[in-house]
Amino acid sequence: MLRIALLPGDGIGPEVIHEACRVLTAASTRFDIPWTSELFDLGAERYLRTGDTLPEADFIHLRDDFDAIVVGAFGDPRVPSNLHAKDILLGLRQRLDLYVNLRPVQLVDARLCPLKDRAPADIDMAIVRENTESVYTGIGGHLRKDTPHEVAQSVMIHTRMGCDRLLRYAFELAGQRRGVLTLCDKANAIPHAHGIWRRALAELAPQFPEVTARTLYADVAAMRMVTHPQEFDVIVGDNLIGDILSDLAAALVGGLGLAPSASLRPGVHALYEPVHGSAPDIVGTGKANPLAAILSVAMLLRDFGHVDAADAVQSACTAAVLATETTPDLGGNLATAEVGTYICAQVAHA
Ligand code: IPM
Ligand code: MG
Repeated sequence: MLRIALLPGDGIGPEVIHEACRVLTAASTRFDIPWTSELFDLGAERYLRTGDTLPEADFIHLRDDFDAIVVGAFGDPRVPSNLHAKDILLGLRQRLDLYVNLRPVQLVDARLCPLKDRAPADIDMAIVRENTESVYTGIGGHLRKDTPHEVAQSVMIHTRMGCDRLLRYAFELAGQRRGVLTLCDKANAIPHAHGIWRRALAELAPQFPEVTARTLYADVAAMRMVTHPQEFDVIVGDNLIGDILSDLAAALVGGLGLAPSASLRPGVHALYEPVHGSAPDIVGTGKANPLAAILSVAMLLRDFGHVDAADAVQSACTAAVLATETTPDLGGNLATAEVGTYICAQVAHA
């Protein structure tokens, strides 16, 4: 029995998670997958009501009682500090030690690519982003805050253990794909915190002779992802570089509406979420694109061994895009729930 924790969160989160659950139901019926879910009341509403962000009891329950967590989005204009989002989203990444952030990016329809003359075969990459270290740990502080002499510091942390385990994951993934791993860093400008990545890569590479490992400065990588996207297979970056390059990659294939992700502590914890945010400006309009959430559920199904179901959901999403049975961001005129209905029907007949 697959036990799934649902954290729809804020803004359009609940709308896209609702459709993702309908698709999960359709896939589980078609492919006979037993699953249960529990809805967590975590997000801005609860924070504004009770002051809770991620209470210990919820954290322990999430940590101990589920196979996978499915997240919508966090962020609400009524909480300008974004404190709840930080505690919940970054808190789960840290506290569950979800050190891999995997963001596959695949062009399914050339129409959605902003680059000239690119075919689906040209853009098929997977961003493997370190998800617990770098400048995301919160280590740092201010001196003389709010004075003209203020000093602000955010410390970039990289551990050799953190580099090694992420690179190992990335090498294994590259071995199952086209066998090219590109480490993107700024080791020229950040020799200590990014140099450690290059040394870790050089030491690990001989263990994976089937993989071609190379390094690129992240600024050059950003340029080449636009000019030569076909060169990229697995892209590895620290938390900050990976964050930035994953949005760039998503833009090459149709935007964040099509970008799924998984945050993993492989074999122990797994959290799936669309890369997009809570988009408060379109809440309730039916414009929210549910495909990134649905594709995140496809990643979940695949990770838990339900390959046929994952393939069916993914093919249904591709079919929706190719037939323009989509929300307006991808050129269609369907509402959120209508896209869900289309995908469910495709999956049911897969
Ligand atoms: C992401 C987001 C987050 C991040 C923000 C919301 C803190 O951009 O998941 O990519 O930077 O990790
Ligand atoms: Mg981001």
